[in-house]
Amino acid sequence: MIIDPEIISEIEADRPRIPVGLLTREEKDRLIERGFLGLYRWYVAKSQAQRNWNADKSFDWHTFRKDHSPEMVKILEGFFAVEQYVPDYVSTLLQVIRKSHGRSHFHIRWGSEEERHADLWYNAVLFSGQRSGDWLRSYMHDLRGQDWKLPWEDPIHMVFYTVFQERATQINYLRTAVIARGQSTNPIFVNDADPVLLQASKMIAADEAAHYNFFLEGARLFMYYYPAESIEAMADVIKHFSMPAAGIIPNYAEFAEVVYRAGIYGPRDFAKDVVQVALSNLGVEGRKALENGIKRGRLVPDENGNLRDSAIFEGIDYGVIKDSVKRIFGRIEQHEREVGFWEVDPTVFVPNYA
Ligand SMILES: [Fe+2]
Ligand SMILES: [Fe+2]
Repeated sequence: MIIDPEIISEIEADRPRIPVGLLTREEKDRLIERGFLGLYRWYVAKSQAQRNWNADKSFDWHTFRKDHSPEMVKILEGFFAVEQYVPDYVSTLLQVIRKSHGRSHFHIRWGSEEERHADLWYNAVLFSGQRSGDWLRSYMHDLRGQDWKLPWEDPIHMVFYTVFQERATQINYLRTAVIARGQSTNPIFVNDADPVLLQASKMIAADEAAHYNFFLEGARLFMYYYPAESIEAMADVIKHFSMPAAGIIPNYAEFAEVVYRAGIYGPRDFAKDVVQVALSNLGVEGRKALENGIKRGRLVPDENGNLRDSAIFEGIDYGVIKDSVKRIFGRIEQHEREVGFWEVDPTVFVPNYA
């Protein structure tokens, strides 16, 4: 019997599209590592050229206002406290990712940028004139009496955790800049305009934006090469997320209450400006889509992390992720061409699914 080729092509078109995984775990891990390393090299060059500020010398601390509202001083104190655990933020995760050249070196660089945030807020609290040096040292002693522990101990969860955490921090500092610009509509903060605080909040928010972007690109690498593991990790992180050190800062509840009243940050901001934004940057429509994707029982990757069917692609826009991963490799290529790596050892994009 001869079947009309048109009928065959119609049958083919109706068949559910099952993507074919092309890569082994080893190859995926190699590509993610090359991606992280390339991104890290690109990041450092940019950070040194554009954001090389100093917590002491880049600001005119002499002119920092001495009459900020008690609420604003409380906020500065809270920012200082959160950034105080930088030795733990660096050392704990470094142990987990130490074998990855790209991630571990980036982490050390990231730590140096967080360290200057800690010192910047130290200066802001001190120069507010409302806390003494002795008070600050004693508060720091109390803070450092506890150590911060990793919320997750695997590299993939931690990529997603840092995506959300950096975005949340960025929001906090951007909203502080609004107050420092004198644009707060909240009567408590109408007299907190301060050019030095404005400059500090903007510079620090720019660092947090750069951190967010780096971790977002890293998360996209995982989403592209390990979609099933990634969306599970992401959902976990969203479900259990809390700001770093919230559980160990002695007076954290008081701080959280002031930032909430100031319109700087609260649960609604987390849902709308952190989760929603990060999810759409990662090609996921929303939390529902994420949960639906996970609930599908067929979502079982084979031993190479490749999915056996197309179920997962109903929850995420895999095309968007693929495009962003190609853009990441494109950016790395540009950097490598400028330096010369491209001629000797290029970082090349390899597709995950046919
Ligand atoms: Fe920071
Ligand atoms: Fe950061």
